[in-house]
Amino acid sequence: MKDAIVIALDGPSASGKGTCGRYLAGKLGFRHVDTGAMYRTFTWYCLQSGIDLSHPARVLDFLRQWPAELEVSSDEVRLAVNGKVASPEILRSDDVANTVAKLSPIAGVRVWMVRTQRDCLRFGNLVMDGRDIGTHVFPETPFKFFLTASDEVRARRRKAEGSAENTAERDRRDSTRKVAPLEPARDAVVIDNSHESAAVTAEFMLAHFESKRRQLGL
Ligand code: DC
Repeated sequence: MKDAIVIALDGPSASGKGTCGRYLAGKLGFRHVDTGAMYRTFTWYCLQSGIDLSHPARVLDFLRQWPAELEVSSDEVRLAVNGKVASPEILRSDDVANTVAKLSPIAGVRVWMVRTQRDCLRFGNLVMDGRDIGTHVFPETPFKFFLTASDEVRARRRKAEGSAENTAERDRRDSTRKVAPLEPARDAVVIDNSHESAAVTAEFMLAHFESKRRQLGL
């Protein structure tokens, strides 16, 4: 890793990664990267094209040519396709949500994503959230968190956001897939925030990060 600092933030859906990640990035003046949005952006692009998603070779041919580039806006690093960033509504749509877990286990898709996520270092210090950041994307960073919450609490949070997405099924697939399954890195700080607000969780993470950063002299 170059000189930039990366905070790796992994966990299942509705575990608070996005909220806590943005809070930390804002407090620290780091850039935030939502890697789930990258997988969703590729899924959206595939769905629009109408290619047959049951053939990984075709998906990979498509990936080699897709006109995607990293861009930064309001301290958020995102993938733009043909210069356009898909809206949160599109990326959270049922079509995308129901298809993303079919594309994300394809090894070649993950290779592309991991390379692109590492390339985000050129934008400076990062808070990167996802499923495999501490285990595969930046395993060398000393700053790793794994957020989790009970199934009931996570389902309630998604419902409160107005989503009827079957997150339990997607989490099950993410955790049991052969390539880069969702699991905490050995040296991650695991936080079950079922009974904590996002603000309390994020403040705890911030204090932990600052203390470790001082300890390491970074
Ligand atoms: O965080 P999210 O719900 O937006 O992620 C959508 C999907 O993308 C998730 O089901 C699995 C995949 N994903 C992944 O495999 N690795 C990541 N680092 C981030 C997301």
